[in-house]
Amino acid sequence: MRFDHRHLLGIEPLRPDEITTILDLAEQYVRFNRGRDKHANALAGLTQINMFFENSTRTQASFELAGKRLGADVMNMSMQASSVKKGETLIDTALTLNAMHPDLLVVRHPHSGAVDLLAQKVNCAVLNAGDGRHEHPTQALLDALTIRRAKGRLHRLTIAICGDIAHSRVARSNLLLLHKMENRIRLIGPETLMPTGIEDFGAEVFADMREGLKGADVVMMLRLQKERMDGGFIPSEREYYHRFGLDAEKLSHAAPDAIVMHPGPMNRGVEIDGTLADDINRSVIQDQVEMGVAVRMAAMDLLARNLRARPSEVMA
Ligand code: NCD
Repeated sequence: MRFDHRHLLGIEPLRPDEITTILDLAEQYVRFNRGRDKHANALAGLTQINMFFENSTRTQASFELAGKRLGADVMNMSMQASSVKKGETLIDTALTLNAMHPDLLVVRHPHSGAVDLLAQKVNCAVLNAGDGRHEHPTQALLDALTIRRAKGRLHRLTIAICGDIAHSRVARSNLLLLHKMENRIRLIGPETLMPTGIEDFGAEVFADMREGLKGADVVMMLRLQKERMDGGFIPSEREYYHRFGLDAEKLSHAAPDAIVMHPGPMNRGVEIDGTLADDINRSVIQDQVEMGVAVRMAAMDLLARNLRARPSEVMA
């Protein structure tokens, strides 16, 4: 197994074989997590600190559970209650934590690039749990594992990513990963929510849902990221649902066995019809959550192996 990275900051620096390494190890953890005894010791003796400067339900819970199941000492820093509120800079917060000698730092931050910056200032392994509209690598990896399990492969699939592409780190990391694995990617959404020059990433762009979904094997829906919008990007949620919300009729244009994905949190009746989201024959949304724990265990396990392989003075 080769995974020669000190941090997991994004999908961009990963090679296809490294992505496969993470997914293969995650597959073992899927089986492990379904067993009765959910305690291993890949991270025994290590300290994991979760620093979430933005709200999160599933990502934070998933990282916490992943760390605990692998035997790490896990601490969740409540960034709402911390000195950040008193005006301490990100770097000062990082240096303070660094002095407590964590081994793994899991960080979510509203600014693109903030997690990379932080990684340069600390001695431990840093995992990006989402930075602004930049990257969310573990989300793309858990999506990839979900797709690979449902479709039996992770190449030569037609994958439609729909909705608020412009504000989405999930779309960006998925686009990078699925492109590296040689899939055909379609981006569907209103022009106002489509970043300019996105075709250069090797995707086809559609403003019509039915056209974009034609024959797709995977339909990945995105949340409207209103917290990152600074103006009127859509006329109304009603109109948005009419044109871009996924319902059974629009889905009928995709392949008959197409799967439906959503990273959560979902706005039912805005991006996706609630009944379709709950349809266990089409929707793999709960599988995504399950794969999330396994993928985060795999990523932290691999980073910890690299940590242990380095003499500690090199880390100084
Ligand atoms: C995503 C995120 O935070 O980027 N959610 C998640 O991690 N499950 C997507 C979103 O917030 O819409």
